[in-house]
Amino acid sequence: MSEARDLVADGFTESATDYEDAVRFNIEGSQRLVMSIPSGRYDDVLDVGCGTGWTSQAVIDRFRPARLTGVDPSEGMLKQFEAKLGEIEGVDVTLAQGGVENMPVADESFDLVVCSMAYHWFPRKWAAAQAMAQALRPGGVIAILCSGRGGEQAFRDVLANLEPPNYVWLGAFDALQRDIPEMEDYLLQAGLEPLDLWTERRTRHTTVEAYLDRMRAVAGHLIGDKTEEEVAAYMGMVQAAMDEASGPRGWTYDFVKLYAVARKPLVG
Ligand SMILES: C[S@@+](CC[C@H](N)C(=O)[O-])C[C@H]1O[C@@H](n2cnc3c(N)ncnc32)[C@H](O)[C@@H]1O
Repeated sequence: MSEARDLVADGFTESATDYEDAVRFNIEGSQRLVMSIPSGRYDDVLDVGCGTGWTSQAVIDRFRPARLTGVDPSEGMLKQFEAKLGEIEGVDVTLAQGGVENMPVADESFDLVVCSMAYHWFPRKWAAAQAMAQALRPGGVIAILCSGRGGEQAFRDVLANLEPPNYVWLGAFDALQRDIPEMEDYLLQAGLEPLDLWTERRTRHTTVEAYLDRMRAVAGHLIGDKTEEEVAAYMGMVQAAMDEASGPRGWTYDFVKLYAVARKPLVG
């Protein structure tokens, strides 16, 4: 397991029990992604970075595949997904621990690959697109949702103005977020035919506490290699600066989601 992936997966395992409450609005993003997949019959589905299973559930609700495989490196997230399996009827679900870099799946064995809110965590984006394309049968479809460029600017401004700045967390936004042309290039380089790419920007109002809960659940590992006391002191500083920057409607932030749907060309 690569170090970067290890760190991300451990972070998700630590926060797995808080994750569902903190990112409930991601479910609707997964649903919009799944609604954008061309209609058709998809018997074998692969969910990469399946987490606790929201996107798999959306695929099951819309397409009722015969078989669905969920892959994720985080044991904690897979455990949460496993606990829901009893509620899923008529679909043969297999869960496997692994990253996109070393998925325990056969080449050209899926009609549909979905990957929701995980792609931004992949340390090697071209290789990840290639690996997912390899798992697809010719004619198969891939649907990706990830964090888009330009989101979370209000939070980045707070982090940039704290002293000393947390360069790891600040730099992570540039390292993670992507825009349409970049995603298009990943897909094309992987031999896929892009069908539809778009971004959505949403402005949300929430409390500082709720926003930080979400940040801890999805990006807690970016706070850095610190003791518990150091983390608490740092987060106290972040919270105070966010309180100061909040207005009458609480903490206001923009979130950008990048969506992509592509097809693997039929050979011959
Ligand atoms: C924000 S969650 C999204 C989970 C799920 N797809 C959903 O829509 O709720 C991101 C997931 O990506 C997984 N992940 C992180 N690095 C990964 C990698 N290299 N390969 C595959 N999955 C990864 C994490 O463990 C986590 O479960």
